[in-house]
Amino acid sequence: MQIIRTTDYDHMSRMAANIISAQVIMKPDCVLGLATGSTPIGTYEELVRRYENKDLDFSGVTSINLDEYKGLSPENDQSYRYFMNEHLFRHVNIRPECTYVPNGLEPDSDKACEAYNAIIAASGGIDLQLLGLGHNGHIGFNEPSDVFEKETHCVDLAQSTIDANSRFFASMDEVPRQAYTMGIGTIMKAAKVLVIVSGESKAQIVKDAFFGPCTPQVPASILQLHSNVVLVGDEAALSLIPEA
Ligand code: F6R
Repeated sequence: MQIIRTTDYDHMSRMAANIISAQVIMKPDCVLGLATGSTPIGTYEELVRRYENKDLDFSGVTSINLDEYKGLSPENDQSYRYFMNEHLFRHVNIRPECTYVPNGLEPDSDKACEAYNAIIAASGGIDLQLLGLGHNGHIGFNEPSDVFEKETHCVDLAQSTIDANSRFFASMDEVPRQAYTMGIGTIMKAAKVLVIVSGESKAQIVKDAFFGPCTPQVPASILQLHSNVVLVGDEAALSLIPEA
């Protein structure tokens, strides 16, 4: 694993954007695995800036997102499709039909997951997978568990996640109880994995995930077995891991 230490969130975002830009420049028809959450927002801003400066061209790129809430429409401002449109897709020249997010409106979980697995297979595989890291070590919506789930599956959200999300919805009934997520096996098949972490609150889980035992109780720890991982973090997030 390669570790890139950066000074702060903005620096982390620029370095992550450098890596993604290199991927897009070297392979214009690449497949990018993308993430939502607060960590990649600066990275996406940086990619948009580069596109606007004509330094990047997304016209040949395919994107495949990690996850989506079950039951939310693309128009719902809490959906991950909405997030991606707002933070990246509508600002660059990626072809909308080449941007994939699990179909939150498909009520049949098996159908939704099979369809997403078929999309991933048809893409020929992910060249670069961008990941954020949950405080409990989750990647995508792969939460701590007794097993590593291989392919796209439907997860029941923890009550703590449902409670935390409730502030974004008009009523408790509207808060999603489930989500579709890419599996750990699919993430591990990506040719390259780029993990971005920022802030002191991530320091302990970065240490556990990358320097602790490899266990499904810390889903990101499986990345220790991947041969091409780059971890880009700011000083605070990397403060508990060895210097070298
Ligand atoms: C997002 C995702 C999640 C986040 C993780 C970190 O698509 O799959 O695993 O990457 O929860 O979130 P932030 O970046 O908000 O700390």
